[in-house]
Amino acid sequence: MNRSSKHTPFVSALLALTILLVWPLHAFSEMFSDEDLQNAVDKAYEAFKDVKEGANADYIPILATVPSELFGVVIATKDGKIFSAGDIDYRFSIQSVSKPFTAALIMAQQGPEAIREKIGVEPTGMPFNSKIALEMYEQRSVNPMVNAGAIAAVSLVQADSEEQRWNLVNENIEGFAGEKLSVLEEVYNSEYETAWSNRAIANLLYNYERLYADPEESLRVYTRQCSIGVNTKNLGIMGATLANAGVNPITGKRMLPAEHVPELLAIMASAGFYDESGEWMFNAGLPSKTGVGGGIVSVVPGQFAIAAFSPRLNGPGNSIRAMRAIRQIAGELGVGLYGPNPAN
Ligand code: DON
Repeated sequence: MNRSSKHTPFVSALLALTILLVWPLHAFSEMFSDEDLQNAVDKAYEAFKDVKEGANADYIPILATVPSELFGVVIATKDGKIFSAGDIDYRFSIQSVSKPFTAALIMAQQGPEAIREKIGVEPTGMPFNSKIALEMYEQRSVNPMVNAGAIAAVSLVQADSEEQRWNLVNENIEGFAGEKLSVLEEVYNSEYETAWSNRAIANLLYNYERLYADPEESLRVYTRQCSIGVNTKNLGIMGATLANAGVNPITGKRMLPAEHVPELLAIMASAGFYDESGEWMFNAGLPSKTGVGGGIVSVVPGQFAIAAFSPRLNGPGNSIRAMRAIRQIAGELGVGLYGPNPAN
């Protein structure tokens, strides 16, 4: 007692000095000038604009016709500033980048327990459309980032009709983007006409009582959700809303209670890249979501989102140039969640 009180003034002074010295460094390390952010975007765009590896998705026939050369890179900050390079206004289908946002809708409506209990939060380590994962794991849908879990999430939305289910899903995604969006009807038709694999998944889930609405209705609404047209800036703002603790920086609207943002980001970190999630977190260290349309969004919590778009994909279905650009920016700015990863 005596000993500790004797040392208290010294310890307090040391603490104050440490805070005085370290706090400005800490604060500075989290702040980037507009020039820093624009330079990082420009550098990543230049570094990867000529990469031609990979191929457009073609299991949804119309995606094969999207011009492969397109490439856009964006940083969107939590106060709504945009730094960009390349084809950032081109509208492409959001595809699986929509999945965390519908999971957010379920969390906001029904709490995170609904996700944990009725879908799951484990990574599968398997491809996004795996039927094997559905048979192997007792939870069936496993997590809301893979197709099974995302179709289950759509089925969980509390609605009295298909129209209402769609409106809730669509308005939620528009709320994250901060503007009206529209479905790319050609993409919807192309995907729905060939959706045999997802139809099998929806029916299997229904069979195992892990789908909470009519299978064909859930499939239709899920397919429409994936066909929403977005540009790279839209993806940036959607990510920036998560970086801003759930509040859209453009509209000021709260889209997700702040306490659920870390839970959603954790699912994105462990499963956002499917069977490549471990590799991605090892390399870039940022919670992210990819889509077969070529979009990727990554979140630097409390700071900004990095979004990129390029149609050519690798084997697991992730955009090669978008991955490289985001990974490069994360390294350049040293914003990996677990500490700065050096740039490529
Ligand atoms: O359900 C599908 O197969 C597509 N609508 C979405 C898949 C997807 O984007 C996978 N992501 N890389």
